[in-house]
Amino acid sequence: MENIPAKLEQFYEGKAKKLYSTSDPDLVIAYFKDDATAFNAKKRGTIEDKGVINNRMSELFFTLLERNGVPTHFVQRLNDREMLCKRLEIIPVELVVRNIVAGSMAKRLGREEGEPLKRPVVEYYYKSDPLDDPLINADHALVFGWATPAELRTIDTLALKVNEVLSRFLDERGILLVDFKLEFGRHHGAILLGDEICPDTCRFWDKQTREKLDKDRFRRDLGNVEGAYQEMLRRVEA
Ligand code: TMP
Repeated sequence: MENIPAKLEQFYEGKAKKLYSTSDPDLVIAYFKDDATAFNAKKRGTIEDKGVINNRMSELFFTLLERNGVPTHFVQRLNDREMLCKRLEIIPVELVVRNIVAGSMAKRLGREEGEPLKRPVVEYYYKSDPLDDPLINADHALVFGWATPAELRTIDTLALKVNEVLSRFLDERGILLVDFKLEFGRHHGAILLGDEICPDTCRFWDKQTREKLDKDRFRRDLGNVEGAYQEMLRRVEA
């Protein structure tokens, strides 16, 4: 983009990012923080340079996805910690796509972490901090008007496409894409993929050693958190 709009006031602060308005009402600037939280912010910490890594990794993934036909909010990375994005009206339904049992699925359903799923499983969660993002189904999303039937069909299809593209890309770099979370939003009538795609929002395991290279190292106090984020960026940039 030739003329970068001016950064104006902060209008939102989430757990991992701050959002700023710009002189273009259609564009916002996301600032990536080093703050790390888990269990809906009951656990807090800092992961050094996480913001820089997540900004860069999201740029690489969004660019890859755009090339493969997934529309995203990404416009361009502005600097180490800032990304220019299209302004979204966020759909309050988070999608989790799973290829291997882990995390809350293992716990909720009493399955062993690491069990491969015979096909990807898509789950919906209602985006609500006061309620700790509860698991919901499509009927909940429709009946409470969080998304229309057409929107749900679109985000389902896009989420599975993201899974295909990222799984293949990561497999070539020796990484298993275990599961990940996506958020979508509306922008002038289009549905765009939003938020970020990084070790905070995905589970990445080394294909050979099954070493965890994502935020589970922070959630579960496994140590070498920064090293895992750096290693993932190195693999994705390769
Ligand atoms: P879960 O197994 O804890 O439900 O997490 C599934 C995936 O979603 C995992 O890759 C991490 C990601 N995730 C987020 O991005 N934000 C969250 O708040 C949670 C709970 C999970």
